[in-house]
Amino acid sequence: MGYTLWNDQIVKDEEVKIDKEDRGYQFGDGVYEVVKVYNGEMFTVNEHIDRLYASAEKIRITIPYTKDKFHQLLHELVEKNELNTGHIYFQVTRGTSPRAHQFPENTVKPVIIGYTKENPRPLENLEKGVKATFVEDIRWLRCDIKSLNLLGAVLAKQEAHEKGCYEAILHRNNTVTEGSSSNVFGIKDGILYTHPANNMILKGITRDVVIACANEINMPVKEIPFTTHEALKMDELFVTSTTSEITPVIEIDGKLIRDGKVGEWTRKLQKQFETKIPKPLHI
Ligand SMILES: Cc1ncc(COP(=O)(O)O)c(C=O)c1O
Repeated sequence: MGYTLWNDQIVKDEEVKIDKEDRGYQFGDGVYEVVKVYNGEMFTVNEHIDRLYASAEKIRITIPYTKDKFHQLLHELVEKNELNTGHIYFQVTRGTSPRAHQFPENTVKPVIIGYTKENPRPLENLEKGVKATFVEDIRWLRCDIKSLNLLGAVLAKQEAHEKGCYEAILHRNNTVTEGSSSNVFGIKDGILYTHPANNMILKGITRDVVIACANEINMPVKEIPFTTHEALKMDELFVTSTTSEITPVIEIDGKLIRDGKVGEWTRKLQKQFETKIPKPLHI
């Protein structure tokens, strides 16, 4: 048994109580984040906290603690659980109140939950790459909010899973948006392409890190959309997320991306990404 962040306290897992009328539970009325922890150290945690507060603000939830306090609580949670390599999941809901769609009185406080999980890096996928499938993007038009409402993503991922694929690459009228739980990048003639960060996608923290990596290795980046047809014609393709890092996609719906082998630009970006990951302490 471990410890859970519950509002502003770290408590034993078994002490946590979630009310049946928590709005997260009934409406998916809340926002969340996932932070990767490498060798006991949180990666890009400030960026994740910033995005959590931004997502909350977009749906008019005010988180009743400062970002510094939140950071400190996450740090404490990692220490208490002695997490080495894995992730922290945390969410904020609009709180508990008698079921009604409209917001409750502003005396109702948001409910925060956070916990950790040991989870090794996906080394085999990073090395060999994965298969994907195209799925129509049926989600709402505020995908920039990291909302607890994930039905569109759940259905897409299940479809991918049933087809033996790692990820569903979503498209609207044949324009690739993002993955069901990742951002999608393509490489053509040494240029890196990805969908612009607008309301159609979540602006991934890993996406930002990858764009920084591309800049560092002098690889041009174009944040413009590409089609499913163009995706299949890319020299290289990959998906990114906090837990998937830079996962090469070598096949979509049975069609190989170029020769079905992980390409050299993807390897260069993975190598650059690797330099940023917190290393084990040798003391
Ligand atoms: C829809 C969607 N897009 C992109 C991402 C990648 O975001 P990040 O790199 O911040 O994990 C996620 C992560 O879960 C996601 O759910």
